[in-house]
Amino acid sequence: AATYDFFGAHQAGITTPVQDHLHFAAFDMAKDATRADLIELLQDWSYAASRMTQGLDTSATGAVGGSPEAPPDDTGEALGLPASSLTITFGFGPGLFDDRFGLENQRPDGLETLPAFLGDDLDLKKSDGDLCIQACADDPQVAVHAIRNLTRIAFGRAVLRWSQLGFGRTSRTSSEQQTPRNLFGFKDGTANILADDDAALTDHVWSSDGWLADGSFLVARRIAMRIETWDRVRLSEQERIFGRSKGEGAPLSGGDEFTDPDFSGSEIPADSHVRLAHAEQNDGVRILRRGYNYVDGNDELGQLSAGLFFLSYQRDPQHFITLQKSLARDAMNEYIRHTGSGIWAIPPGAKTGSFVGAGLFE
Ligand code: HEM
Repeated sequence: AATYDFFGAHQAGITTPVQDHLHFAAFDMAKDATRADLIELLQDWSYAASRMTQGLDTSATGAVGGSPEAPPDDTGEALGLPASSLTITFGFGPGLFDDRFGLENQRPDGLETLPAFLGDDLDLKKSDGDLCIQACADDPQVAVHAIRNLTRIAFGRAVLRWSQLGFGRTSRTSSEQQTPRNLFGFKDGTANILADDDAALTDHVWSSDGWLADGSFLVARRIAMRIETWDRVRLSEQERIFGRSKGEGAPLSGGDEFTDPDFSGSEIPADSHVRLAHAEQNDGVRILRRGYNYVDGNDELGQLSAGLFFLSYQRDPQHFITLQKSLARDAMNEYIRHTGSGIWAIPPGAKTGSFVGAGLFE
């Protein structure tokens, strides 16, 4: 496991090699919160995040260094654990850009609640939010500690709206990482945008727009999988649904995992996921995927409440919308259901000594 700087041109947790665990949280600002409250919250969050990502307590007195007569600053469950590759990435939802905070003229183009898509079955209580925090780490305890303490720091200014744990990455952002698998058993992240591909990052991920320059947009979708139904599907059919082989992850048009798919023949079906999601079918649109597997227990029929918590970074919300519309014909749709959704503008990285999103308030 590594230690990543909180400060930098871009926020960590986007191109950072995808860690093994996720705790994602969305917050709403308190009803009576002011612009000053928001600025202070972002300052306090940035300070604690800059420490926790270095493997430190949230403050100098921390879990056990303060007064025995007061609740400790830090909740303590990460004491003795290393930084564990922790990254903490903050995002601003559409609801933040209103006159409560004097931000009504700063709304980035396209930062609107996502439109309804065919087949959506969204739980609105587990969607959206004024702010979001993506905490990724190689130790789940470290990711949970981060969200728990940032939630506590927000007390009186912002409240937790919903959160999601993810236990296994479904993507890779570095050529040194092996491609992991999603809960359908397929390699996921083969054709992703990687950290060393500066041209693709500039073209598809980083914004160049005003205060958001060097930031991005994050889309989250909680996608439930009908696991038990999927598990009764023939192998050859599973492979046709994705357009790739299950073992190697090679395109059905031939070659190995990293051979470009060839859509000129009929080996890769017209309604396969890879064909419909590929840049060639979508005016050149590409996204950086950074999702996680999740299992939240089971339902009353004994079926796993499992799926993929999809996270993607793109320079323009319209890019996700284009892809998701194209996937309306996806053969995989019989086996999935989108149950949660959210979109946030991801500010650039904080400068040393400053705080995340400072550019918004200048
Ligand atoms: C590719 C799985 C949802 C966009 C893939 C691949 C798999 C996969 C196995 C092929 C390997 C790879 O290149 O990573 C899934 C599953 C999903 C899901 C199980 C839901 C449960 C989505 C959504 C989007 C999306 C919602 C975007 C709206 C893409 C893109 C590619 C891809 C852009 C790369 C296509 C290419 O360039 O070849 N996905 N995916 N996926 N997926 Fe998904």
